[in-house]
Amino acid sequence: MSENLIQRVIIPDILKKKEKKEKIVALTAYDFPTAKIVDQAGVDIILVGDSLGMVVLGHKDTIPVTMNDMIHHTKAVTRGVQRALVVGDMPYMSFQVSQKEAVKNASRFIKEAGARAVKIEGATPYRLETIKALKEAEIPVMGHVGLTPQSINQIGSFKVRGKNKEEAQKIIEEALKLEHAGVFSIILECIPLELAEVITHRIKIPTIGIGAGPFCDGQILVFHDLSGYSNGYLPKYVKKYVDANKILIDGISQYVKEVKSDQFPLDKHSYHSKEIEKLFYSKKQQK
Ligand code: KIV
Repeated sequence: MSENLIQRVIIPDILKKKEKKEKIVALTAYDFPTAKIVDQAGVDIILVGDSLGMVVLGHKDTIPVTMNDMIHHTKAVTRGVQRALVVGDMPYMSFQVSQKEAVKNASRFIKEAGARAVKIEGATPYRLETIKALKEAEIPVMGHVGLTPQSINQIGSFKVRGKNKEEAQKIIEEALKLEHAGVFSIILECIPLELAEVITHRIKIPTIGIGAGPFCDGQILVFHDLSGYSNGYLPKYVKKYVDANKILIDGISQYVKEVKSDQFPLDKHSYHSKEIEKLFYSKKQQK
């Protein structure tokens, strides 16, 4: 095998990381150049999240996102990735209608778009059966409990879940049931760190937190939040590592100024042709 060949992250690597107490690093990406950057930076899992509905397509929540949106963006991401495990997020109504449709839609992520796993929100009895059907079709599944944004019309807000005993108990049970149904990891979104710690100790598969504190087996953030690409509201759990919005606005404002003041393009940004120059001058001279 060539020394330069990059070893792809596979699901057993993700499971081993929990055993070895090595943190799993995940991040979202939605297009080719971003996926390349995220992959080169050493992230283990790239989630093509349905958050793309908000951060890329400008919707107010994830509900309008379609399978075709997800496949289009996942294809772009997998073209840019050499190492990370790419997970496609099953959008609202792609897995609720029937198990047959769920398997068909999930298989599009794998066959058409080149993802190597899918993610499903929630742990209702019907979804647990769907997860088993996907496993039967050799499609690895990542679970997602706590705040599940596709439930927005039922829950009414994106607030922290599991702050009281009943809700916490329900989330613990959901995590246990998801493990039993065969998911390879579980996203814990917006829950108290104490609850995330309990779940992380109670299950053998890795937990990956977003707004779930430091005791999860791994962490995930939305690319546009971490990079500051969007400059809107940021939840408390986000750390903005770059201010891409400011960097880009500064750079583009400079471009606007330079074009208006004839400082761009300069000769070094331009092409020359002796032949055209001669023709131009000879025509000019003939006049
Ligand atoms: O869609 C998404 O980006 C997600 C993450 C927030 C986990 O589900």
